[in-house]
Amino acid sequence: MTTLPTPTDTTELRVGVVGLGFAGTTHLDAYTALPGARVVALAGQEAGRLAELAETRGVEATYADWQDLVARDDLDIVSIGVPNDLHHPIAMAALESGKHVFCEKPLATTGDLAAEMVAAARAADRVLEVAYNHRRRADVQFLRRELDENPIGRVYHARASWLRRSGVPGIDSWFTSKAAAGGGPLIDLGSHVLDIALYLMGEPTVTAVSAVAYNELGRAGRGGSTRGGPVSARGGHAFDVEDFANALLRFADGSSLQLQASWASYSKAHEDIEVELLGAEGGVRLHVDDYSTDGTVTLYSDVAGAPTVSRPDVHVPAGHHQSVIEEFLATIREGADGAAPRYAGHHGEYALHRSRVVDAVYESAAAGREVSVESTEAVAR
Ligand SMILES: NC(=O)c1ccc[n+]([C@@H]2O[C@H](COP(=O)([O-])OP(=O)(O)OC[C@H]3O[C@@H](n4cnc5c(N)ncnc54)[C@H](O)[C@@H]3O)[C@@H](O)[C@H]2O)c1
Repeated sequence: MTTLPTPTDTTELRVGVVGLGFAGTTHLDAYTALPGARVVALAGQEAGRLAELAETRGVEATYADWQDLVARDDLDIVSIGVPNDLHHPIAMAALESGKHVFCEKPLATTGDLAAEMVAAARAADRVLEVAYNHRRRADVQFLRRELDENPIGRVYHARASWLRRSGVPGIDSWFTSKAAAGGGPLIDLGSHVLDIALYLMGEPTVTAVSAVAYNELGRAGRGGSTRGGPVSARGGHAFDVEDFANALLRFADGSSLQLQASWASYSKAHEDIEVELLGAEGGVRLHVDDYSTDGTVTLYSDVAGAPTVSRPDVHVPAGHHQSVIEEFLATIREGADGAAPRYAGHHGEYALHRSRVVDAVYESAAAGREVSVESTEAVAR
């Protein structure tokens, strides 16, 4: 294995971005806006878009295939914004050649592949960070602080959902292929609200899952997104993932979470994100309606014995990806001078736990019964 020198506080981190869709472009723009990092290589298969992005963002080198980018020996970071089935091969090659990796969610299409990525990050002692950007929303961060400062007692149940009325991201694209994506809205959108719920609940360990999943609209070609699809269609796929999933998760401490995700459903939901925690002494709710940026937080309590509802004035600016990437760069720098393992706790462990839960949802839905979740090490929030 090649081992690159660990960057110091003053080194400019050299980045290679793979992918030119929403994810890759967002990564590219985030690094470009941040001090101390420079995107020197960009890869993707849409030639015109590749040339245009490289020119407008000042990237020196472009590649059609990720292999040529990862083979460079002068990159500190590989940033992955490609279809889910490519996360594993790209991350493995990057980690094994001593690079830090920033990977889009989900970490991989299955928990076993995610576990291999975590093992590779540990072996190389390189940071493996995952783009759970929605947890960086100002309202989620507000709720995290609020729960720390004003605990709501034992949280015994939570609800987390991301529901779309008509939002399949490309009806026959890679998104709707089990082999390419690993699953449908549960792995795509559900993994974000699962992340927010686990983060706000303090990272309880999921022990069992009972789930159902359906494919009613998607397989009939209904429910396509009105907001455009992925840039790399890789079309012609059968719609062999769910379009709606519903799961009950049990935690080691006896608490539970209801998790729902849909790309399409005949329901009032338009683009509805909701996370609600029920505590023995209070409750909190996040409700984001069509990416709303204000009025998303509600707190429930008793004041002088009277049921009370409060709506703190929290505004949510854009830029959650940039915030995760900023933290990722800081983690790389902070570990630079430490004793090995420099990056303990930053090898993708928490994302692996989420991948195990997603696996269990699909396994339970297919089996028609509750299944246990393969245990991962406890993760600190
Ligand atoms: N965190 C978020 O908010 C968020 C939002 C959208 C997508 N995503 C995730 O980002 C990833 C990409 O999604 P997207 O919507 O940007 O997809 P996309 O289809 O729009 O873009 C994928 C890119 O990967 C490139 N690619 C495919 N094969 C390649 C290869 N062999 N070598 C080099 N490049 C290759 C394509 O050329 C394309 O530019 C997925 O994992 C998705 O789940 C995350």
